[in-house]
Amino acid sequence: MGPLLGQEIVRRIETLGAISETPAHLTRIFLTPEHRAAADLLLSWMQDAGMRAHLDAIGNVCGRYEGDRPGLPCLMLGSHYDTVRDAGKWDGPLGLITAISCVGDLHRRGQRLPFGVEITGFADEEGVRFASTLLGSRAVAGTFDESVLGAKDRSGIPMREALLRFGLDPERIGAAARARGELLAYVELHIEQGPVLEAQDLPVGVVTVISGATRLTVSLTGMAGHAGTVPMALRRDALAGAAECIVAIEEFCRTDQGGLVGTVGYINAMPGATNVIPGQVSFTIDIRAASDAHRNLAVADIVRRIENIAGRRRLLLQADVTHENRTVPCAPWLKRQVADAIAGEGYRVFELPSGAGHDGMAMIDIADVAMLFVRCRGGISHHPDEYVDVADADVGARVLLRLIENFRPRQPAD
Ligand code: GLV
Ligand code: MN
Ligand code: MN
Repeated sequence: MGPLLGQEIVRRIETLGAISETPAHLTRIFLTPEHRAAADLLLSWMQDAGMRAHLDAIGNVCGRYEGDRPGLPCLMLGSHYDTVRDAGKWDGPLGLITAISCVGDLHRRGQRLPFGVEITGFADEEGVRFASTLLGSRAVAGTFDESVLGAKDRSGIPMREALLRFGLDPERIGAAARARGELLAYVELHIEQGPVLEAQDLPVGVVTVISGATRLTVSLTGMAGHAGTVPMALRRDALAGAAECIVAIEEFCRTDQGGLVGTVGYINAMPGATNVIPGQVSFTIDIRAASDAHRNLAVADIVRRIENIAGRRRLLLQADVTHENRTVPCAPWLKRQVADAIAGEGYRVFELPSGAGHDGMAMIDIADVAMLFVRCRGGISHHPDEYVDVADADVGARVLLRLIENFRPRQPAD
């Protein structure tokens, strides 16, 4: 028979992965034309799988497969369909496409369950365009912060305007929110994005917690000037100051004993000319740790350090937290069902934490959450070499299908 679901999944991963801002590098950013084309394709796949499908008020792709009676509460599956820049094809789409293949399989067999199955393709999980992240899942969880509608992308386009261009009404975002009673649970399959399952020689694993994260935007203002005339001692070079901050952040995280990770992934220097001293620089910071207390202390310490650097260099500092998520535990009763499905497919049950962020961090506000990780080659992610073997994609699908078919809503004893 071969890995039939796996083959369908890999084919669709390739098709969706070709929908990009540029052909050479996969980039599919929230509310762009390619994001819209991807949404339309996902809607058509959901319909082929026997689901009713629509785009919600923030651009999430929503599909519903009715249970044995219409209108029953649902098991919600999902993941995101936006990407980082120069992304891999699997981060987000694997979970979404696998869920659609599983429902397609139920549909082909005419199988109805005593609950609905819904799939949500979240529109923004990566947060590349507007600094704030999890915009799709926050809208579904009813925790979308309307103040971010005014946030501007790097070209100065406000989110409100981008929604209108996509064909959505920014005034209606509240309509995307779902009530807790409509969901029995939220389960997400995702590539691991790390090397642990590969080292364990296992195709799948059960997630224990999703680590919290803080993102900041830092702006340093000095004084622009002539590169040939201003003596070094008299300069207020914002880019040299940012460089010192970046190295200090790396050093702080590198010497931490508790697994803290910190990244400066974006920097912009103004006015940006070879012969002009940079007067204004902005950069981002992403800080993560498995414990919230550890992360919060680290963020406070890092901000103090960059304040000192800015003060010594006579630079004006502005540091704003643009995103913050606490560490989210997966629900024990639901984790047990994921573990049973893995064991039922004949694999050893192995638990691991997620260092990456996921939509479950927002969905926790309206549902218990669990995650199933699928092995990825070399632990490479947020990189075009991201890769999942077809056999592993198939195992992921079979485990997810078994989980869906055997799913039992939370019992009083759970
Ligand atoms: C999302 O991929 C994140 O963890 O930043
Ligand atoms: Mn990602
Ligand atoms: Mn992801």
